Amino acid sequence: MRAIVCEQHGPPESLVLKEIDPPEIGPGKARVAVHACGVNFPDTLIIENKYQFKPALPFTPGGEVAGEVTEVGEGVTGVKVGDRVIAMTGWGGFAEEVVADAGALIPMPEGMDYATAAGFTMTYGTSLYALKQRGQLKKGETLLVLGAAGGVGLAAVELGAVMGARVIAAASTDEKLAVCREHGAAETINYTTENLKERTKELTGGLGADVIYDAVGGDAFDQAIRCINWQGRLLIIGFASGRIPELPVNLALLKGCQIVGVFWGAFTGREPEENARNTAELAKLYSEGKLKPHISATYPLEKAADALYGLINREAKGKIILTTR
Ligand SMILES: NC(=O)c1ccc[n+]([C@@H]2O[C@H](COP(=O)([O-])OP(=O)(O)OC[C@H]3O[C@@H](n4cnc5c(N)ncnc54)[C@H](OP(=O)(O)O)[C@@H]3O)[C@@H](O)[C@H]2O)c1
Repeated sequence: MRAIVCEQHGPPESLVLKEIDPPEIGPGKARVAVHACGVNFPDTLIIENKYQFKPALPFTPGGEVAGEVTEVGEGVTGVKVGDRVIAMTGWGGFAEEVVADAGALIPMPEGMDYATAAGFTMTYGTSLYALKQRGQLKKGETLLVLGAAGGVGLAAVELGAVMGARVIAAASTDEKLAVCREHGAAETINYTTENLKERTKELTGGLGADVIYDAVGGDAFDQAIRCINWQGRLLIIGFASGRIPELPVNLALLKGCQIVGVFWGAFTGREPEENARNTAELAKLYSEGKLKPHISATYPLEKAADALYGLINREAKGKIILTTR
């Protein structure tokens, strides 16, 4: 099968497209013919050996795929050949086939195409867990989303609006903010040309945002903590800017706010039943037409480096997807 292989750590151009042996199947496993792979920020880090998971070389990156089950291993009951499924692979997904635990496969939501399915679970799963379980977002509250046109950010914008919050989307270009409006943002802030802290205060009558969703870190976090409402919740999602911010904790005292860590991957393993309820809720919202996942670019497998640079160069709006067939 064809696969993108990381033979030595480095930037996207060091990846190679190779013909390799398909992965072996075993008891409890299922083989999936991959139709599409989601490109996620961790893929840009794992190939540089800068991510929390460090697979041994050589390995294939790609943490999320959608495809069709072509073979099941001994003892598998819940999944059958022909099922359309999503697999969260950690790595190994930028390939024509993956083998995954059959019990962990997610049925594709009704009516969803492969490209959409390949970019759905991590983004919407993270953002629902962040806003619901971690942020306790309530109807009528103000939600400020940083990096709002990115993968997890745009999902947070949509889900925040569905949950009845007034969503303020903050991003680096007007083009990105226009997409955020199409996906439910009531207000927007261009943090390249506007002051994030001052503008958020203006838009909230001086109070600040009740919940802040931060997938960016760095300077955006430094401003955001200064425009959070009394008893607000600042959700720590990620550090796409490349800088993990440091917090003078007197600010948390003065604002009476909570700094809330969000680690969706750990949540799926530690609280599988709650995660299954979230997954079902997302599938229902999708089938009701309340979620409209946005794909800004689709590349063939051999262009994996270009797809990764789409994220690194901040070009993506919503998702970038690789297709394999
Ligand atoms: N905690 C969790 O469970 C969890 C789950 C999934 C992802 N994450 C993390 O969330 C973050 C976003 O992931 P994603 O897949 O949504 O990525 P993405 O689609 O690339 O979005 C990241 C956004 O960050 C902004 N950004 C600011 N400075 C940047 C820089 N120097 N390079 C790249 N982007 C920059 C960009 O928006 P502007 O151009 O508008 O600033 C971009 O849209 C990552 O740190 C990822 O590891 C965390």
